[in-house]
Amino acid sequence: MKAAIISEFGGPDIFKISDIDMPIINPDQLVIKVKTVGLNPIDWKQRKGNHKLILGSPFPIVLGYDVCGEIVEVGDEIKKFKKGDIVFGSLDNKYGGALAEFSVGHEKCFSFKPQNISDEEAAAFPMVSITVLQAFRDKSNLKAGQTVLINGASGGVGHIAMQIAKVMGFKIIAVASTLSKDFVEKYKPDLFIDYREQNLLKSDIKVDLFLDVACNYSFPNTKHLLNPNGLYLNLAFIDTLKKMPLFMLHQIFSKGKKGRGMLMKHSGADLDIIAQWIAENKLKVNIDKIFQLEQISEAHKYAQEGHNKGKNVIVISN
Ligand SMILES: NC(=O)c1ccc[n+]([C@@H]2O[C@H](COP(=O)([O-])OP(=O)(O)OC[C@H]3O[C@@H](n4cnc5c(N)ncnc54)[C@H](OP(=O)(O)O)[C@@H]3O)[C@@H](O)[C@H]2O)c1
Repeated sequence: MKAAIISEFGGPDIFKISDIDMPIINPDQLVIKVKTVGLNPIDWKQRKGNHKLILGSPFPIVLGYDVCGEIVEVGDEIKKFKKGDIVFGSLDNKYGGALAEFSVGHEKCFSFKPQNISDEEAAAFPMVSITVLQAFRDKSNLKAGQTVLINGASGGVGHIAMQIAKVMGFKIIAVASTLSKDFVEKYKPDLFIDYREQNLLKSDIKVDLFLDVACNYSFPNTKHLLNPNGLYLNLAFIDTLKKMPLFMLHQIFSKGKKGRGMLMKHSGADLDIIAQWIAENKLKVNIDKIFQLEQISEAHKYAQEGHNKGKNVIVISN
């Protein structure tokens, strides 16, 4: 089958479109014929080798986690899905494996694709929306009426975070650049802060959750912006792990304020919640650019610049 592979870590030009073996599944896995793949920053970070100490170097590597496709094979233990179902989800293999004609994942990775969205939109949703749901509901325990600051509001995670925040009844302070102001304001945040015009750390805002999507702040330097019992939550999990001793030290003197990192967990139940919100038109993903598989290097170059409005998607088959 056709796949975009890398045989070493490096820049966006190292991809090669090659023929590789068809995947083989365990009884608790299923195979999908991939239609579309959503790009996430983790894809270009892994292409560079940022996670090689944890994940190893099992070349040739097929990158990509977020997919939409048709189920073509199910293992004996699969209960929820059958051949022919159209699903979307985020693969749970080490390096993903989505940038190929066929991909494999466990049942918990997938949900049925809502009928009111395109294949491109479906592949753009999984990782960012599951992350936001788990950040708001499980990590911060935020209540309706409380305030979340979203630092990096215009990107993949950020624009979905603004919408889920609305669904859950939070007040929103959105932080992005001037270039993204019009895009971000479509989601009606209570306040927009342009990080190029205003020093966020010197503002007099108070928030219950500082969701650091752009990951350029830390708990020690933002805790004066938190309400009592407020949380600073950083999405760069590995960076936060390194800073945890410092976060713990600061928590001792912070009157209930906390600093944490998080890593999303695969959950079919959570993706079912997202699918329901999509079906009810409460969530819409903004597709910035669509690329063909042969344009994967171009797609990675663009995504790595880090200023997309919403998501970028690769088309594998129609
Ligand atoms: N822990 C997890 O489970 C998890 C899950 C998903 C994603 N993530 C991580 O979350 C991060 C964001 O992901 P994403 O998909 O949203 O990325 P993205 O689509 O590339 O978006 C990045 C956004 O950050 C904004 N930005 C850049 N510099 C900024 C600054 N100095 N201050 C404020 N905003 C700034 C950009 O807005 P402007 O164009 O306006 O500058 C852009 O919209 C990545 O590091 C990703 O790996 C972690």
